[in-house]
Amino acid sequence: MSDAMFEAHDISPRVGTRITISKADLTSGKYAGDIEELLKTRSALVFKELFLEDEEQLAFANTIGTVTLLGDDGVSKISLDPTVSDTADYTRGAFFWHIDGANDVYPAKATMLTAKTLSEWGGDTLIANTYAAYDDLPDADKELLSTLKVRHALEASQRMVHPDPSYAELQRWRTRPSQTHPLVWHHADSGLKSLVLGATAYYVHDMSREDSDALLCRVQEWATQDRFVYRHKWNVGDLLVWDNTGTMHRADTYSLESKRLMHRTTLEGEEALG
Ligand SMILES: [Fe+2]
Repeated sequence: MSDAMFEAHDISPRVGTRITISKADLTSGKYAGDIEELLKTRSALVFKELFLEDEEQLAFANTIGTVTLLGDDGVSKISLDPTVSDTADYTRGAFFWHIDGANDVYPAKATMLTAKTLSEWGGDTLIANTYAAYDDLPDADKELLSTLKVRHALEASQRMVHPDPSYAELQRWRTRPSQTHPLVWHHADSGLKSLVLGATAYYVHDMSREDSDALLCRVQEWATQDRFVYRHKWNVGDLLVWDNTGTMHRADTYSLESKRLMHRTTLEGEEALG
C-alpha cells in the first residue's frame, strides 16, 4: 500500500491553495503535473513548514520548470543585509508590487521562497492574482486597456527606493534591460488575459504623464484589492510558490535591520510577454 499523500485546499475563493505533500513526493515529481495546474489556476501555492534544504528545493523546482542560474547554484539568498546578499539594495524594491523579470521579454515562469529566518515584525508576502483582476474589470476598462503599451524599467522601481538618485546612479540603472509590454497579457496557450503592472511600470506610451500616472495608479489599486490577494504569514520552513506570469507580489514592510532570510529559486520564463 502506498503512503503517498497529496492534498490541496483552497485558502480563498480567488487565490492561494495550501498543499500537503511529503518531501519525497514533492521532489520526485510524482505530482508535478497537479502542482503546475494548481499554480496556473490558483496563482500561489503554500507548503507549510516543509523545511526544504537547498538541494531539495532545486529538485522540486526542476520538476516544474527550468531553474534560472543567476551566477549561483539556483538558490539565491534574499536578505536586506549586504553581508549576506550582494543584491541587498535591490531587495528593498520588493516592498512594492512587482512582477519578477518584468524588464525582460520572458518574465520568470514562477518564483519560490523557503523561509529560513523571519523578521521580528512585518514581512508577510502578498500575491495578487492578475487573471482574476482582469476578469472582474468593467467592460469599459477592458476596452480602454486593450491597446495600451507600458514602458517597464529598473529606473521606475528603483526611484521608489531612491527617489533622488545621483546622475551616475541613474545612468547605471539605464544600462539594464527595459521593455515595452502590453498592459494586458494575452496568454497564447490558455487564451486567458492578465494585467501587467507594478513598480517597474514607468509610463503608458502615447499618454500625458499625468494621465499615465493616474491610470497606472487606478488599475493597480483595482488589481490589489483584498479579494484578489493572498497574504502569506510566514513560519520558518514554509515554502511559497507563485505563478509569476499572472500575478504581482510584494513583501510587507519589515525592519531594514532585520535578519529576515529567504532562499529563492526562480524558474525561467517560457512565454514571451505579449
Ligand atoms: Fe520579487
